[in-house]
Amino acid sequence: MFEPISPHGKDIADLFIFILALGGIVFALVVGLLTYAMVTGRRRATQEGLPRQVAGNTKLEIAWTAAPAVLLIALFIPTIMVMNSSDPAKVNKDKPDVVIIGHQWWWEYQYPNGGVVTANELHLPIITDPKSNGYLIHLKSADVQHDFWVPQLGRKIDVYPDKENFLYLKPQQAGTFIGACAEYCGGQHAWMRIIAIVQPQAEFDSWLAAQRTPHTTSAPTTSVGAGQGDPKRGEQIFLNNTCINCHAINGTTAQSPIGPNLTHLGSRATLGTGIIENNPANLARWILNPGAIKPGLRMPGYQLSQEDLRDLVAYLEEQK
Ligand code: CUA
Repeated sequence: MFEPISPHGKDIADLFIFILALGGIVFALVVGLLTYAMVTGRRRATQEGLPRQVAGNTKLEIAWTAAPAVLLIALFIPTIMVMNSSDPAKVNKDKPDVVIIGHQWWWEYQYPNGGVVTANELHLPIITDPKSNGYLIHLKSADVQHDFWVPQLGRKIDVYPDKENFLYLKPQQAGTFIGACAEYCGGQHAWMRIIAIVQPQAEFDSWLAAQRTPHTTSAPTTSVGAGQGDPKRGEQIFLNNTCINCHAINGTTAQSPIGPNLTHLGSRATLGTGIIENNPANLARWILNPGAIKPGLRMPGYQLSQEDLRDLVAYLEEQK
């Protein structure tokens, strides 16, 4: 949060530093006066009876009532200003740039204008126009309450199943920025990693175009038999198993929106919403027993033969 990449994030970071500094001064003052009182008011061995008794001090009492009030006002005013600036006026709620849906325990990202549905990697183009409001994000939940928070991008915002929330994101620097679900939502709450990838407009456009295009599964290559798997056969395994009850892969008959959309799964850096690196060995481990990696999740393990597993992994990893 100390390296914000958006005006909203910067306002919040500045406010935090201001409050931290003010709190630091008060802390130093209180501890300093306390130390002074302990040293000067110490009961010495030579002393007899009680120390000097003080019945009251009107001036001091007024001072320590008024000073905190002044301090609270000094905190209240910039806080209200930042609440306003980090949550700008909402416009055109019908046309969000991204719809973010929290699930136990993963994130769904929909790009209604681009006709793309993906999971667990939020891509956004850099905003260069300083006057732009930013991207309008529409947040909702499919089950329980979650909370979307990428500190470098801006404020935290709750994600409710029964209420819609809106947020503006205005990323001004390319890079990968990590966030997390910030509302306890069950056993794997800590593994609802948010991976926000901010990229130049042209790069984002080609990403979006690639996401929109379903992958065509390639015919078995000569590498079959060398442990690489047969994607064509893997596709049949995918479509003939209960994978399709929860997952969608565009361009196939698998169209269920319950679990993460797996179109272009191979292009994602992680599996299980950030919990393990996406590579064939980990994907095989995940399919066999995802509950061993992310206990409590809804996906069952699949007891597939070595060959079936290899082909299914080859098919899924090929979805780039
Ligand atoms: Cu979702 Cu915590």
